[in-house]
Amino acid sequence: MTSALVTGGAGLIGSHIVDEALAAGWDVRILDNLQRQTHRDGKPPWVPVEAEFIQGDVRHRRVWERALDGVDVVFHEAAYGGYMPEIAKFIASNGVGSALMLETIRDRNLPVRKVVVASSQAVYNEGAYTCPAHGHFYGSTRPIAQLERGDFDVHCPICGAATTPAPTDEDAPTGGENVYAISKMIQERLILSWGRATGIPVVALRYSCTYGPRQSLFNPYTGVIAIFCTRLVNDLPPVVYEDGRQSRDLIFVEDVARANLLVASDARANGQVFNVGTGRAVAIGDLARLLAERLGKAIAPKMPGEFRPGEMRALITDAARLGALGFAPRVTLDEGIDRYLDWVRAQGPIAEYFARAERMLRRRRVVKRAAAR
Ligand SMILES: NC(=O)c1ccc[n+]([C@@H]2O[C@H](COP(=O)([O-])OP(=O)(O)OC[C@H]3O[C@@H](n4cnc5c(N)ncnc54)[C@H](O)[C@@H]3O)[C@@H](O)[C@H]2O)c1
Ligand SMILES: [Zn+2]
Repeated sequence: MTSALVTGGAGLIGSHIVDEALAAGWDVRILDNLQRQTHRDGKPPWVPVEAEFIQGDVRHRRVWERALDGVDVVFHEAAYGGYMPEIAKFIASNGVGSALMLETIRDRNLPVRKVVVASSQAVYNEGAYTCPAHGHFYGSTRPIAQLERGDFDVHCPICGAATTPAPTDEDAPTGGENVYAISKMIQERLILSWGRATGIPVVALRYSCTYGPRQSLFNPYTGVIAIFCTRLVNDLPPVVYEDGRQSRDLIFVEDVARANLLVASDARANGQVFNVGTGRAVAIGDLARLLAERLGKAIAPKMPGEFRPGEMRALITDAARLGALGFAPRVTLDEGIDRYLDWVRAQGPIAEYFARAERMLRRRRVVKRAAAR
């Protein structure tokens, strides 16, 4: 029988991987520190009794020694995420935490057969774009001075024209211009190069924006759909950055979990990075309006003309590489939002944490204001 360790297995993506692995008949162990910002009420009810649960922090070597014992496949989902002012905590959780896992497996000669790591499309500097005159190019991070002028477009590097977003493939330049993205880049590169050095198969999955039941309704820093919903159910407008025309590829969490199980069992995936997304993008302003409509709230989004330095303008996944292994997302955005809202409605009263978070982010300049246009 295959034995899996799912780090972050109490969270959104990890918990659905746990379910998929149990359904496949695997033995499952969860390692999760139940980070307070995400799990204000402690261990969530969806952690199944069939899985062994270790409450521990990936930043501690001893925790890894215990968690990795007897494991065949690791799904490494635990991470610190979002747009937060911390720097050291991102690097410690996502970088050092992963480094400790790799050292533990290597130095104790553990018979781990594969490591699948949750990366992110945040590792790209920008999406791909098309200039009407000069064709396809990979965008660069937009300069802060440009955003401060209220110019949010990605311009052609040759002629300066406004451009159209295009699907972004895995060859797009990586690096990232915010701390989260840099920490995910470090994590991904550490694991891939360790895999080449040790010969232990590794796979990195670069998820696009993932949503669905169990996405924390407490955490005001991650999950655009969850944040907008907690605002709307409290009769507050969703706060949309930039001009609302920035776009994201939103994928339902069950599809992301299936992608994990697929690459865990397919040797063709070894050593590779894959985008995981739908190939369709929605403008964030439209998403806010769609959620208001589905929740029956006549509330328009608020657009204060703010932006977050280092954020991508557009994210449309080119999902062909994973598609070649037979993966296709099954849940449409309409169906996914319905299923998510059914879950939200079943959660009882929902508090709103975003307003206070927003003030803090402004003070720390994680959110900045553009000149009035
Ligand atoms: N949700 C998305 O849109 C998205 C997009 C791209 C990549 N990812 C990546 O996918 C992974 C899972 O994200 P998610 O959306 O399920 O997030 P989540 O916050 O719902 O789950 C993460 C889990 O990890 C745990 N955790 C955090 N720090 C930990 C630590 N130091 N030690 C042990 N456990 C810790 C948390 O308690 C939580 O249960 C992360 O690596 C994230 O970077 C997510
Ligand atoms: Zn051009």
